[in-house]
Amino acid sequence: MRRTLVAANWKMNGNKASNEALLEAFKKGFDGSADTAVFPPALYISQLAESLKGTDIAYGVQNAYFEEKGAYTGELALSMVKEFGCQYVLIGHSERREIFGETDEQIAAKVEATLAADLIPMLCVGETLEEREAGITEKVVKTQIDAVLKKVGIAAFEKIVIAYEPVWAIGTGKTASPEQAQEVHAFIRQLLAAEEADVSQRTRILYGGSVKAASAEALFGQPDIDGGLVGGASLIADEFVAICNAAQ
Ligand code: G3H
Repeated sequence: MRRTLVAANWKMNGNKASNEALLEAFKKGFDGSADTAVFPPALYISQLAESLKGTDIAYGVQNAYFEEKGAYTGELALSMVKEFGCQYVLIGHSERREIFGETDEQIAAKVEATLAADLIPMLCVGETLEEREAGITEKVVKTQIDAVLKKVGIAAFEKIVIAYEPVWAIGTGKTASPEQAQEVHAFIRQLLAAEEADVSQRTRILYGGSVKAASAEALFGQPDIDGGLVGGASLIADEFVAICNAAQ
């Protein structure tokens, strides 16, 4: 019912030559068993548009702004994102929340504007290590999702992809166990089901946080895990191809 989606978040890495090498290896090795999307640094979107032409590999930006245009130095408008063939917009990644101070309200506004631009928001949520140890993982994730629910309503979640990324697992090599991840994914699905059961069954919820080829199959095998958002391992061609091909 929910097709697996595996996304590559390149973060602030790469250059033209390394991007091309990654994309060529990916196009060659990917068996098409999942939906897939690549989030490069925005300057390289044109390179991806050219390289991925005629393939089923989608691409998107790691961030965009909710205003239509104007004096917002350094920001990207969603109309620009759309003009360059992007399908997805990553929103609310923990690095945006922590380093750049993005709030739940700004993130909800970005989701709303992304939907209005007919693009797919990939909404990131997740708790820090301190929050997990304090036993408030569910409370934190609920607050993050409620802010978006309040802004766009449950019906919009048909088009939103959620990425659950425990902050303590990002770039640390500490993957959440399949059971730990499944527990939070099931909780997120219940949150949506409390609003509208049908929608909750259709929303894809991805896991992110040190996903590797060796852990992908067990993670993707969990009933409420519908794929992955991959950082470090998406920069290693063989590793990312193997993660995508682990999808059933
Ligand atoms: O967006 C991707 C996540 O932040 C995961 O990154 O796979 O390097 O832990 P990671």
